[in-house]
Amino acid sequence: MTDAARPVALARTAAVIPAAGRGVRLGPGAPKALRTLGGTPILIHAARAMAASRAVSLVVVVAPPDGVDGVKALFDEYPLPERTDVVVVAGGAERQDSVRHGLAALPDDVSVVLVHDAARPLVPVDTVDAVIEAVREGGAPAVVPAVPPADTVKEVEPTADGSPERVLGTPVRARLRAVQTPQGFDRATLERAHAEVTGEVTDDASMVERLGLPVVTVPGHEEAFKVTRPLDLVLAEAVLARRRVTDGF
Ligand code: CTP
Ligand code: MG
Repeated sequence: MTDAARPVALARTAAVIPAAGRGVRLGPGAPKALRTLGGTPILIHAARAMAASRAVSLVVVVAPPDGVDGVKALFDEYPLPERTDVVVVAGGAERQDSVRHGLAALPDDVSVVLVHDAARPLVPVDTVDAVIEAVREGGAPAVVPAVPPADTVKEVEPTADGSPERVLGTPVRARLRAVQTPQGFDRATLERAHAEVTGEVTDDASMVERLGLPVVTVPGHEEAFKVTRPLDLVLAEAVLARRRVTDGF
């Protein structure tokens, strides 16, 4: 069905959650999405963050290929609110492969897609809603939550062995943004990007950029950081502890 032919009443928003990575930078242990924060798996936090938005009626979780049944069982143990459907599919070797597998599982009536890293368990619902809202307004087919970087960023000539790297330049910091997820898309545009763009990419919006289509930012949130290295687990536990105090969670 073309977008124009898709009845508005049937237009749904779905979230695809790539969760098939090992979490190598986090060090030895269970796959990152299955490690716990405050006793609850990181993936469950991330799925709840998507389901917290009233607009999201479907969550597609992309599990490690050997972990599909385990992840299905996890959602039996930690059910999402009843209005949110959950589908679990197997991931691929690279993040883009996992996202593609997730997109393939979307039903016809979905017209807006969020792609959200399982590794960002603490994104606030206001950020999720702001992304969805901006996609629905239709100003651009791709919307990313973004924050100004705290650090000055340099471009270097990378060395693999830890020896000093030659600095090639320093982009003006005021023009830089660190981007987070959920990234929001017009479904047809994201599917086209995944069908046509090849090569190494680290987020979905950059694939839309490669099509020459506009991508815009909305304000991200410091709590939407990606759990990547061991210190991030410490920070995430601290954010959860603060929420328990301030929100009575
Ligand atoms: N991801 C995925 N499939 C892959 C690789 C990554 O679904 N083949 C997911 C991860 O599970 C994560 C998100 O993409 O939720 C962002 O990736 P990243 O933070 O890099 O996670 P990992 O790849 O698991 O971590 P690392 O790079 O340290 O191994
Ligand atoms: Mg990775």
